[in-house]
Amino acid sequence: MQIAILGTGKMARGIAYALRETAHDITLSSREAARAEQLARDMSAENARTFHGSSYHAATARADVAFLAVPYGHAAGVIASVHDALQEKILIDLTNPLNAGFDGVATPEGTSASEEIARAAGPRVRVVGALKHTFAGTFAEPAINGGPAPDVLIAGDDAEAKKVVAGLVEAMGFGSLDAGPLRVARTLERMTVLLIDLASRNHWNWNAGFKLLH
Ligand SMILES: NC(=O)c1ccc[n+]([C@@H]2O[C@H](COP(=O)([O-])OP(=O)(O)OC[C@H]3O[C@@H](n4cnc5c(N)ncnc54)[C@H](OP(=O)(O)O)[C@@H]3O)[C@@H](O)[C@H]2O)c1
Repeated sequence: MQIAILGTGKMARGIAYALRETAHDITLSSREAARAEQLARDMSAENARTFHGSSYHAATARADVAFLAVPYGHAAGVIASVHDALQEKILIDLTNPLNAGFDGVATPEGTSASEEIARAAGPRVRVVGALKHTFAGTFAEPAINGGPAPDVLIAGDDAEAKKVVAGLVEAMGFGSLDAGPLRVARTLERMTVLLIDLASRNHWNWNAGFKLLH
């Protein structure tokens, strides 16, 4: 598959690294194409495989699947800038609408970042909420302290798109669980708030995640 990663920050790098051994064609992208091109060159050299780098729009235009790895507060602007290129594609939204104190969400009751992003992207884009509480540091080694890897809970209204996302997160080394429709992102985003609080109070050094036993 052709994969676009929108953003060059901690999550973008983690996702690219975690997919390094797959056959997918991966393009990192940025507001500044030169920044993504440089990151792609560096990651290609470090990992003995090819990553591409480009602008958000060019990466989205050639993608089947795009990861939205930008702050929620800037997501609407990024979506607007790639709107035409995104149509008919799968958009994996990993944004958390955290408030300034990281102890709650900034979105009102009755919606979520993923639902707002789906509205902005339009009905022809299959938005899937995933990786919301996958800490960036765990992409390098999903097994927590040598134990099991966390599960990625996946919310979305399109079953086929959720299967594609499940395949990608499993290829990264995580477990996957279909958590239900896109509105379940309201819960997933609040679970992130809980995990941040737990990790912070227990000094887990951001090496933590949720694993469901059943
Ligand atoms: N960090 C985590 O552990 C974690 C875990 C789960 C989910 N998330 C979510 O994943 C998303 C990305 O998090 P991150 O930790 O990767 O953030 P980050 O390291 O700060 O990177 C964010 C990226 O967003 C891009 N961006 C686009 N427009 C921007 C703007 N106006 N201002 C600033 N940056 C802008 C930047 O890339 P360019 O400048 O190259 O365009 C930047 O590299 C967030 O929504 C976060 O809630 C994070």
